[in-house]
Amino acid sequence: MRVLVTGGAGFIGSHLSEWLHARGDVVTILDDLSTGRRDNLSAIDGCRGVTFVEGSILDEPMVARLIDDADAVCHYAAAVGVKKIMDEPVATIHTNVDGTAIVLRHAARRRCRTILASTSEVYGKLMNVETAPLREDSDWRLGPTSVRRWAYAATKAVDEFLALALHAEQGLPITIVRHFNTVGPRQRGRYGMVLPRFARAALLGTPLEVHGDGQQTRCFCHVQDAVRAIAELLSCQKSIGHVVNVGTDQEASILELANCVRVEAKSASPITLVPYHSAYAEGFEDMARRTPDLSKLESLLGWRPETQLAAIVCDVLEDQRQRLARVGHQGDDD
Ligand SMILES: NC(=O)c1ccc[n+]([C@@H]2O[C@H](COP(=O)([O-])OP(=O)(O)OC[C@H]3O[C@@H](n4cnc5c(N)ncnc54)[C@H](O)[C@@H]3O)[C@@H](O)[C@H]2O)c1
Repeated sequence: MRVLVTGGAGFIGSHLSEWLHARGDVVTILDDLSTGRRDNLSAIDGCRGVTFVEGSILDEPMVARLIDDADAVCHYAAAVGVKKIMDEPVATIHTNVDGTAIVLRHAARRRCRTILASTSEVYGKLMNVETAPLREDSDWRLGPTSVRRWAYAATKAVDEFLALALHAEQGLPITIVRHFNTVGPRQRGRYGMVLPRFARAALLGTPLEVHGDGQQTRCFCHVQDAVRAIAELLSCQKSIGHVVNVGTDQEASILELANCVRVEAKSASPITLVPYHSAYAEGFEDMARRTPDLSKLESLLGWRPETQLAAIVCDVLEDQRQRLARVGHQGDDD
């Protein structure tokens, strides 16, 4: 298959591109390198059947040309994460809504098999404190539009509505993948992602800053487990027209995660609690708990996550060690 991976120089996109290349697909990567890095592709750069194109999903003629030459599209380009939308709300909305509309429009024109990367953020404030884990057909509950953090979730929800509408009206063969927290080598801490931030702090001996009281839990899925699911979904006809959770259901509190990082790094870094209003802005809202219901993914693929938290933490620490060695402890490579 000829697969176009948008955002393929990013964290998930680069692992996915490697995986697709390894199984024999011809891979074209479109990335503007805004948060992605060319060196994420060092394992496959220059290999036969791999092409890197530096450019934006907002460049419609280019996107149209690339999709003309593709059998499938994995759309992973996006302005990602809550910190990014807090800092650059207009650009984030433009990329995630207008950029995705361009990609999906041309994928629909060619009826290309498409995977759309969405996020557990679309569940919003819905938490499984008393209810069952979050299912794809659970209600979503976003905060008011005056609270900027909800804009990221809203852009992704608009993408999902558009994808499902193009599937219904124009036969776009699409699967929407709702990723829960995905972690592993190459993820950057600079945009607020918790595990690379903790790993780097532990290695540098600086404090691990936990936002809030640290009792909030998340489920951390290794990126290799996630890309295995994406690649299998791409070949799974039964998943067309569906939204599918991808992640792990093993929960850890952010304090547990911080402790695990300190232990695995053999670090003496202190753990400090930072109130949300200092880390972000007044009125910032966060979820106490967010666990996926994985039954749809299990029934489609028989898929289960395989990597345990300590192994994930060790992989991320090793990645950060190598990065720090390269930049000479300047710390500007995150
Ligand atoms: N990492 C996670 O935990 C997670 C969780 C849920 C959803 N997702 C989704 O997965 C996708 C990939 O996220 P990631 O974690 O790999 O982040 P990332 O920032 O590493 O990847 C995004 C990539 O898109 C590129 N990009 C941004 N704007 C672009 C544009 N206009 N044109 C072309 N390329 C552009 C960036 O340079 C980067 O390489 C995103 O859609 C994100 O919403 C990720």
